[in-house]
Amino acid sequence: MEFKDISTDRIDYGQGKLDISDLALNPIDQLAKWLEQAKQFGARDYNAFILGTLDEDGYPTTRVVLLRDCQDAGLTFYTNYESDKGRAMEGHNKVSANFFWADMERQVRVLGQAQRVSEIESDEYFASRPRESQIGAWASQQSRALSDRSELEEAVKAFTKEFEGREVTRPPHWGGFRIVPHTFEFWQGRSSRLHDRLVYSKAANHWDITRLNP
Ligand SMILES: Cc1cc2nc3c(=O)[nH]c(=O)nc-3n(C[C@H](O)[C@H](O)[C@H](O)COP(=O)(O)O)c2cc1C
Repeated sequence: MEFKDISTDRIDYGQGKLDISDLALNPIDQLAKWLEQAKQFGARDYNAFILGTLDEDGYPTTRVVLLRDCQDAGLTFYTNYESDKGRAMEGHNKVSANFFWADMERQVRVLGQAQRVSEIESDEYFASRPRESQIGAWASQQSRALSDRSELEEAVKAFTKEFEGREVTRPPHWGGFRIVPHTFEFWQGRSSRLHDRLVYSKAANHWDITRLNP
């Protein structure tokens, strides 16, 4: 079946504009500001971003993850270190992040290098998760094949029993990655596709900001 509307559906963007004078000196502060605005706006999963990694065959692969910390040190998210993305980043740590808030007509693109956060940091974050998610981290061999959903459900039952009456400790294969960024692009949709694009590039002790053609 052909879905014709996609060749004709168009939105002319006009919710905002972006000038260098509007931006914070530091792109992490700017990202934090846009995250806060997206939250206030009511954007669902406002802290979700598309993480891009390179697999061992050189394919760029992407998936959504949730940002859990946004500080000068970098952007932190949590995952299974033995998942496809976890293995990809151990082999090749250059990654991209893309935040998109459709109803605000905004995106942010980030480039940087991923590194594991400390064990203590992962422990602290793991301890803050709901118990069911903690059990899930033990039960799921993320990205590996399952013969059937019941295999996963059995693993959940087994770990629920194993941890009965005690704290669920963090599995060694689960923890955080921090993207240490060197480039950010802030994009605001404008009318007639003449969007605003402002790029921060890391210099020795400051960030340079450049405007790009849309
Ligand atoms: C809204 C949303 C949030 C997600 N958050 C995470 C996350 O924080 N960490 C994670 O490992 N997977 C998260 N996922 C699942 C990933 O997109 C992906 O399916 C999973 O991590 C396996 O990816 P991989 O096989 O490329 O390693 C999320 C998915 C969605 C749609």
